[in-house]
Amino acid sequence: MLGPVILAASRSDRMRRLISAAPVTKQVVDRFIPGESVDDIVPIIEQLTDRGLELTMDVVGEDITTPEQATAARDAYLALIDRLRELGLGERVEMSVKLSMFGQALDGGHELALANVRPVVEAAAAIGTTVTLDAEDHTTLDSMFAIHEELRKDFPQTGCVIQAYLFRTEADARRLAAAGSRVRLVKGAYKEPAEVAYQQKHEIDKAYVRILGTLMEGEGYPMVGSHDPRLISIAQELARRAGRKPDEYEFQMLYGIRGDEHLRLAAEGHRMRVYTAYGTDWYGYFMRRLAEKPANLRFFLRSMLSK
Ligand code: FDA
Repeated sequence: MLGPVILAASRSDRMRRLISAAPVTKQVVDRFIPGESVDDIVPIIEQLTDRGLELTMDVVGEDITTPEQATAARDAYLALIDRLRELGLGERVEMSVKLSMFGQALDGGHELALANVRPVVEAAAAIGTTVTLDAEDHTTLDSMFAIHEELRKDFPQTGCVIQAYLFRTEADARRLAAAGSRVRLVKGAYKEPAEVAYQQKHEIDKAYVRILGTLMEGEGYPMVGSHDPRLISIAQELARRAGRKPDEYEFQMLYGIRGDEHLRLAAEGHRMRVYTAYGTDWYGYFMRRLAEKPANLRFFLRSMLSK
């Protein structure tokens, strides 16, 4: 019950101001967003890669309101990629981007987002890595898939995310499960209406398994984005049945969630990629993490009350 309320609050400017200014928030936020700058995040990247993990980096921010902010988002990714080049970590660390942060919702936003994301994809390719386009709310997805298709003409390794809770996703998965494609499957983290998305956990989980089956049986590279232990063992079984070797798919989890499981899967010989977010505009990302697990909200509120 709490999840949808928190997701509604994630779109409220008033709540954003209140929560961002709360005295203890930062310390709670750090669990999921362990840094604000490239300098903060480099030691985390080094620590995780030293442990045999790979990463996908998210410079947090979304729903920007000016083209200048979109340019700043592009530049933030370019600065990170430049640092990864200096560190020689290009091949272990890819980028995840939200097109709303690149201007997708502004006037002429589709073209603007494409123009801003292209240099990031080019810079990533130049250091031997790639970019995955995150999936945001359902109204943005036709534009995201069109940008994905456009980028793939020059950079076929560009990935995208699909969300099991949406009715459309089974058809998207069939279209995307083709040779050379890289597709991350997640359950879905936004508040979506019943006209477009399953609302019940068991329906979402069943859809996840069906869609994962399509990806595993297809010719692309599936990226299993989930912390759900049941889905992780089903993924292993589907990969085995499809005759996939461990380097023909990967697991992905979020920084700060089930860290022991990241290490366990990597130790078993799986490719394990940790989605690591950093930056100052953390509100939307943080609120989605609270909505996924109400216990996080209770911890957050307790830490505020104990001050
Ligand atoms: P589920 O929510 O059932 O959680 C399974 C278990 O994981 C829980 O019982 C708990 O132990 C743990 N857990 C999950 N979330 C937690 C949390 N916030 N705090 C503490 N424990 C938690 N969504 C989207 O709409 N667009 C996107 O582009 C992405 N990108 C993305 C990348 C990656 C790498 C991951 C792992 C996830 C996303 N997501 C996403 C988020 C995704 O849609 C979903 O909301 C979360 O992964 C939670 O769903 P699970 O599959 O983990 O299952």
